Amino acid sequence: MADYAALIDAARAAREHAHAPFSKFKVGAALRTRSGRLVGGCNVENASYGLTICAERVAIFKAISEGEREFDAIAVVTDADTLTPPCGACRQIIWEFCGNVEVVLANLKGQVEHHRMKDLLPLPFDARSF
Ligand code: THU
Repeated sequence: MADYAALIDAARAAREHAHAPFSKFKVGAALRTRSGRLVGGCNVENASYGLTICAERVAIFKAISEGEREFDAIAVVTDADTLTPPCGACRQIIWEFCGNVEVVLANLKGQVEHHRMKDLLPLPFDARSF
């Protein structure tokens, strides 16, 4: 599906629930299943900083825990001037569960960029690697 407006909106809405008292950097993500369902997630920080989980992984683990297995796109929304790409840990998890999906980066100013996971994680380690 080539229409990404609803997916970006879902990520923007998920961002409203971000728990980011330490960094103050609110992130929203949304996944789109092949059947068109949208599943959102936000970053959830912790006073023990390393336990923080990014919005992308929250969205993916939510979707997986609800039985979803097939995805065609993920959107990430922040209010940064420079669009926010997924961190390295999230790239690994996105690749594992979503493969070569479309990655849509957007901000609250309306800037949007499209990437493919294979370009964000070249030469991946995955289940075919062993
Ligand atoms: N964060 C995400 O949720 N996703 C990203 O793609 C980048 C970073 C979060 C983690 C932390 O809560 C805050 O942004 C600052 O790193």
